[in-house]
Amino acid sequence: MEQAMRGFFLYLSRNKALTKVAKKYGLQFGAKRFVAGDTINLAVDVIRGLNNKGLDVTIDYLGEFIESEEEAMEMTNQCIEAIQAIGRESIESQLSLKLTSLGLDLSSDIAIQNMKRILDEAETNGVFVTIDMEDYSRCEKTLRIFKELKTKYDNIGTVIQAYLRRTENDMKELDAYEPNLRLVKGAYKEPKEVVFPKKQDVDENFKKIIEMHMLNGHYTAVATHDDKIIEYTKNLVLKHNIPKEQFEFQMLYGIRTEKQEELVKDGYRMRVYVPYGTDWYGYFMRRLAERPANVAFVLKGMSKK
Ligand code: FDA
Repeated sequence: MEQAMRGFFLYLSRNKALTKVAKKYGLQFGAKRFVAGDTINLAVDVIRGLNNKGLDVTIDYLGEFIESEEEAMEMTNQCIEAIQAIGRESIESQLSLKLTSLGLDLSSDIAIQNMKRILDEAETNGVFVTIDMEDYSRCEKTLRIFKELKTKYDNIGTVIQAYLRRTENDMKELDAYEPNLRLVKGAYKEPKEVVFPKKQDVDENFKKIIEMHMLNGHYTAVATHDDKIIEYTKNLVLKHNIPKEQFEFQMLYGIRTEKQEELVKDGYRMRVYVPYGTDWYGYFMRRLAERPANVAFVLKGMSKK
């Protein structure tokens, strides 16, 4: 049942027509729980509130299905506006983005040009930029672009997904770039040949790559809401005397808020991923796919309307 629901919501998340309709109607169906608002000003207020609680942030201007160079340029401008707002408002925040929103599906060159504009502005404002990892069909291209940009910029990181069979090899190849990586389980529906089919195997691979990356001495963001993985990380850090400056935990805005604050109280660096913008639909559907309890929450919210 859970698997069927997951598939259903991931299917909905890829629906272009619904994405367009949703954009017109503003944040609906409880999406506000996971999305900071539709403007950068609303996002800034949320970030300031989180910073006041000791939480660090990475913001993401939501955008899906970019079909023209102009749309990719507009997304780039929005990212630059977000970076300038972070600098101007003196808030603590990094930026996360997806290469498809910068035109990756049109051409790698367009995405690279847009990334360079963003990274230059980010450098000026002291902002770190993480390239989110999308579905498997974009993984190879994303890693290639990351490697190319990493040779020119220090303020860039990317994401590695534990559910992919290729991941361990990717980590070995990335090692020479001394990358700052966000490690996650993986959020997309992928062909079974390329992923570990069992949740248990994904979790074991997650632990394996956390250990690999930390022991290689590189900065590691462990992005999960899973207590077992969080405990594993804490024990690993203790066992190997890994300094608190070499890693952080990350969670999504609106998920396990109390746990986020508990980690800060215990002295860990905790970063919250804060999405904003009018294009909330696909992101929201992926969150529903991850956890049936989120669906119950949404239904409760709808019945109150
Ligand atoms: P999982 O969903 O397996 O849950 C494990 C356990 O965590 C649950 O059994 C429960 O105990 C607890 N839990 C989870 N949600 C809870 C809730 N709402 N309330 C209470 N307990 C809860 N993916 C991707 O493919 N590319 C990317 O770039 C990113 N980026 C990214 C950034 C950040 C900051 C995060 C946190 C995640 C991502 N992801 C991602 C998503 C990631 O791949 C994954 O889909 C989700 O984090 C869900 O997996 P978890 O590790 O949280 O555990």
